[in-house]
Amino acid sequence: MAHDGHPEFPTTRMRRNRRHDWVRRLIRESNVTPADLIWPVFVQEGQGVRTPVPSMPGVERLSIDLLVQAVGEAKSLGIPAVAVFPVTPPELKTPDGDEATNPDNLVCRTVRSIKDAHDDIGVICDVALDPYTTHGQDGIVRDGEVLNDETVAVLCAQAFVQAQAGCDVIAPSDMMDGRIRAIREALDAEGLDHVSLLAYSAKYASAFYGPFRDAVGSAQNLGTADKRTYQMDPANTDEALREVALDVAEGADMVMVKPGMPYLDIVRRVKDSFGLPTFAYQVSGEYAMLRGAADQGWLDWDKVIVESMLSFKRAGADGVLTYAAPEIAKLVGA
Ligand code: PBG
Repeated sequence: MAHDGHPEFPTTRMRRNRRHDWVRRLIRESNVTPADLIWPVFVQEGQGVRTPVPSMPGVERLSIDLLVQAVGEAKSLGIPAVAVFPVTPPELKTPDGDEATNPDNLVCRTVRSIKDAHDDIGVICDVALDPYTTHGQDGIVRDGEVLNDETVAVLCAQAFVQAQAGCDVIAPSDMMDGRIRAIREALDAEGLDHVSLLAYSAKYASAFYGPFRDAVGSAQNLGTADKRTYQMDPANTDEALREVALDVAEGADMVMVKPGMPYLDIVRRVKDSFGLPTFAYQVSGEYAMLRGAADQGWLDWDKVIVESMLSFKRAGADGVLTYAAPEIAKLVGA
C-alpha cells in the first residue's frame, strides 16, 4: 500500500543506494583529491624563523628557507600550487605602497627561491597594494578616496616584477576596475604572455578576512576603515556575474569567488554561467571558525574540513584555496 505523500514507496527505497560503503563510493558525485587544493602561505623575512598566527591556530608565517621546504612537502602530497602572501616589515610600508614594485621585495625573492628548488609546483602571487600601504587599503588613496586608474598602473608594475621573478599565475585581489585587461597587456608587452591571470572576480567586502589581516600585519594599518568602495556588497549576486563577465572579457584565464563557504551560491552561478576554471577561497575566518571549534573539542576537524571541501566541489568549484591544504591532502590521499 502506497503512503499518500510517497506513492512510489515501497518500490522505491532510497536507502538501497546507501546500504554499503562500496555502493556509496560507486555513486558518489563529488570527490576531493589533493589536485583540488591551492595552499595559501605566509612568508616573512629572516632565516629559520616560524611565527604562529594566533587567530589561525596551526598556521605559521615562515622565512623563505623554511617556506621552500614546506612547499616541497606540499608538492610531494600532490598539491598543484601555492599562493604566496608577504608579511611586509612595517618600515617598508608607504602611503603609495612602493615596495610592491621592488623586484627584490620579499615576494619576488620567495618566488625565485621556490622556483629554484622545485620545478613542478605552480606559484600564485596576489596583486594588490594592501601588504605595502601604511593605510592598509589595496590601492592609492587621495583625499580619502581609493583611486582606480592610478592604482591599476601600479598593479601592472607589481604584476610585472612578480611575473619576472617566475610567478606562474598572477592573481589580482584588489577589485579595481579594468585591472585584468591592463595587467594582461602589460605582461604581454614584456613577452610574459605565458603567465596566467586568476582574477579574484567576485571578492566581497567580508569580515571573514580578519585573521588574514592579523597574519600579514595589515589589520593595524587599516584600523576601523573598510574596503566597501571596491570590494563587493555581501548582499549581491547578479553583480558577481557582471564582475566575472568583465574579467573574462578582459582576459582572465581563471576566476575566483571569495570568501568561500558563505558564498557557495555564487560559486554555482559563476560555474554554470561561464564554465571557466572557477576557484573558491576558504578564507582565514572560515579556517579560524572550523579550527577554533575543533580545538575546543566541539567539532571533529578531520571530518568537517573534508566535508567543507566537498561542499565546494558540489557547488561547482574546480579547486579551493585553503590554509588546511596539506592536512586535507593527507586525509584524502593521492
Ligand atoms: C589582499 C587579500 C586579502 C585576502 C587575500 N588577499 C585581504 C583583504 O582583501 O583585505 C584575504 C584572505 C583571507 O582572509 O584568507 N587584497
